[in-house]
Amino acid sequence: MTDFISLPFYDLLHESGHVPEIRKKLPPLLSGVRRSVLEIGAGTGLITTSLADWTPAEIFALEPSAGMRGVLLSRLSARPELLKRVTVLPCDALSVDLAEPVEAMVMINVMYALEPDYRKRLWPVLATRLEPGGLLVFTWRDGGPPAPRPLQELESRQVGRHTYTVLSEILDSDEESARARYLYRITEGDKVINEEEVAGHAYRPRWETIEGELTGAGFVRSEAPEGLLAWRLGR
Ligand SMILES: C[S@@+](CC[C@H](N)C(=O)[O-])C[C@H]1O[C@@H](n2cnc3c(N)ncnc32)[C@H](O)[C@@H]1O
Repeated sequence: MTDFISLPFYDLLHESGHVPEIRKKLPPLLSGVRRSVLEIGAGTGLITTSLADWTPAEIFALEPSAGMRGVLLSRLSARPELLKRVTVLPCDALSVDLAEPVEAMVMINVMYALEPDYRKRLWPVLATRLEPGGLLVFTWRDGGPPAPRPLQELESRQVGRHTYTVLSEILDSDEESARARYLYRITEGDKVINEEEVAGHAYRPRWETIEGELTGAGFVRSEAPEGLLAWRLGR
C-alpha cells in the first residue's frame, strides 16, 4: 500500500496546504445544516473535526484507507466530546450504506483519486443517500489535468533536526488524467535519511463533464466560492 509512504507526511503538509482555505470557504455553505453530514474521503480528519465544530449535525466520516482511518480515530480520541457524534465508516464511497439519507455531503480533495468510470457511477449512488433538496459540496478546479513537467518541490516542513519534503513530477497527461510521480524525502542537512517513491494517476474532469454527470444524476448547481462546487439534489 503506497498509503504508508505518504501517510506520515499528510498532516504535516496539508494542515498548512488546502485546509486553511477550506476552513474559510466551507462553513458559510453549511450554515443551515443541523441533522447529518456525510464526509466522503475523510482522510486523517483535518476537515472532520472542523465539520463537527461548525455544525451540530451527526457526522459520518467515510474513509477506505486503514492508515488514514487510524490517524482520524486518533484525532477523534483527542476530542472525546465528539466520539458520540462522529461515526467512522470503513468503506469506499460507492459502498456507502446509511440507515437514512443525510442532509449534506462533503468531499474535499478526493475527486482526483476517482477513476472516471467510478466517478460516473458514484453520483447516482450519492443521490440515493441524500435527502431531497440536500447539499453536495466538493473541491474542483477547471482547466483539466496539469501538463507534463519535471520534478519540483511541492512543500517542505521542519520536524526537529529533520526536513520532510514532497516533490512531484508530471510524467504525462491526457484529456482528463495525469500520471504523476511523487518523492517523499526526509533529510538531515544534506544527508538523505529516507526517500520513497509513489506513482499514480490523478483525475481532473472538465466543467462540461462534471455538469453533465451531476445534472444527469438529478443535482442542480448552487452558489459556491472559487475552488468548491455546491449542488442540491432536486426535490
Ligand atoms: C487527499 S486525501 C483528502 C482527505 C481529507 N478530505 C482532507 O481534505 O484532508 C484523499 C482521501 O480520499 C480517500 N479516497 C480515495 N478513494 C476513495 C473512494 N473511492 N471513496 C472514498 N474515499 C476515497 C483516500 O483514502 C484519502 O483519504
